[in-house]
Amino acid sequence: MKRVAILISGGGSNMVRLVEDMQDDHPARPVLVASNDPAAAGLAKAAALGVPTAAVDHRAYPGDRATFEAALLEPLLDARPDILCLAGFMRILTPAFIDRFEGRMINIHPSLLPKYPGLHTHARAIAAGDTEAGATVHEVTSDLDSGPILGQARVPVQPGDTPETLAARVLEREHQLYPLILRRFAAGQRERFDI
Ligand code: GRF
Repeated sequence: MKRVAILISGGGSNMVRLVEDMQDDHPARPVLVASNDPAAAGLAKAAALGVPTAAVDHRAYPGDRATFEAALLEPLLDARPDILCLAGFMRILTPAFIDRFEGRMINIHPSLLPKYPGLHTHARAIAAGDTEAGATVHEVTSDLDSGPILGQARVPVQPGDTPETLAARVLEREHQLYPLILRRFAAGQRERFDI
């Protein structure tokens, strides 16, 4: 049984879907939900689902990313995770941190990578006049939003879409894609699978 830790920064809607899916014949179980924000609403959702939680406030380490990560690693390593899922985690991790989890850390990004790495993905897709958008689950490497793609989900961009309406449409598909890709990843399947 693979042990899965999930990092969040906010509402944790993706984390909830991952936790809810890790039951019965699923090859993994959640062992920790951790956040860089003690006020992240997802922490209460994780606790309500019976998952241990931890929070390390990144604002307590201004300009010192390495010390923040050292503090975050304490509860993280205590949980002995086999897999680390970033789910709405909004901090950039140092290569040193990523190296510790190389090959067993995945992330969901709200664009059809390699298009639109970074932030404001929906506004950029709309501004570009794209007719399609979506989400990508990929392995995390030290090159931001650029690791091997494990799966994508596509949605139409509709006339009159705002970043908010497009984000809501993409988020629904994230909630389908991420649990499916984690199931496969935990079972050792890494070839790309789109939905
Ligand atoms: C989602 O759009 C996800 O793609 C991005 O963060 C947003 C919120 O995620 N990484 P969640 O509701 O906190 O899971």
